[in-house]
Amino acid sequence: MVQLTLPRGSKPSKGKVHKAPAGAKNVKTYKVYRYDPEVDAAPRWDEFQVSADDHGPMLLDALIHIKNEIDPTLSFRRSCREGICGSCSMNIDGRNTLACTKGWDECQSSTIAIAPLPHQAVVKDLVTDLTLFYAQYDSIQPYLQSDDPDPTTERLQSPKDREKLDGLYECILCACCSTSCPSYWWNQTEYLGPAALLQSYRWIADSRDDATNKRLDDLEDPFKLYRCHTIMNCAQVCPKGLNPAKAIAETKKLMVNRPADRKKTAAKVPA
Ligand code: SF4
Ligand code: SF4
Ligand code: FES
Repeated sequence: MVQLTLPRGSKPSKGKVHKAPAGAKNVKTYKVYRYDPEVDAAPRWDEFQVSADDHGPMLLDALIHIKNEIDPTLSFRRSCREGICGSCSMNIDGRNTLACTKGWDECQSSTIAIAPLPHQAVVKDLVTDLTLFYAQYDSIQPYLQSDDPDPTTERLQSPKDREKLDGLYECILCACCSTSCPSYWWNQTEYLGPAALLQSYRWIADSRDDATNKRLDDLEDPFKLYRCHTIMNCAQVCPKGLNPAKAIAETKKLMVNRPADRKKTAAKVPA
């Protein structure tokens, strides 16, 4: 089980305030979580007053402006700035999302709180340790397993079979869903979480994959799959509009429907 008791003094305190230059217009205040576990005794909230006229339209643009022009010690991940790499996931105004696809003008409040993904160990500031998240992804064996000999050309699928992967293959592994899931918060070392389970179903649903029974066997466990209680936070926050809860429900249905002699006949993913 996750250790819930926080060390004394770990509540974020009020940090530095970086005021906007006199005469700045269109000013937004960013309240940013700061914590370097190697140096700081406790986290703090620093405030940055920034004119939106000085940067691009997205919250990632505001963070890059803060890092380049105000405080170069601010740490956050980013790469593509197009909603494709999944690295700029963070908690913005209380909701997990991608900083590069969220416009600063989408936030209603004049002060925008930016924090790391919840319930993850902080490496520094907005950077969390996703080692377990990736290990869980690795554990579902996210690659095609076929009993057929390697073909010399592509493995073809019918359009209907290909359609079964829609809503699954688009996942960018940003971790917004898993880190917004209360079941994952409390049981993250045992429960695989919505992201890994969506990916597991992505391979189960693939007509070219022959490891369905093995994949389902691997999920036969009180925690790995069945800790999902259909709270639906995952589907609400996914920045790609995916529905991991549905993929989890489909996996549970296959578990129930597969024959007792499950080693011989795989349950079929419905057309
Ligand atoms: S539906 Fe399941 S996976 Fe999604 S947030 Fe709820 S418990 Fe977590
Ligand atoms: S399902 Fe959505 S929220 Fe979850 S990791 Fe994939 S893209 Fe991110
Ligand atoms: S920087 Fe790649 S998803 Fe935001």
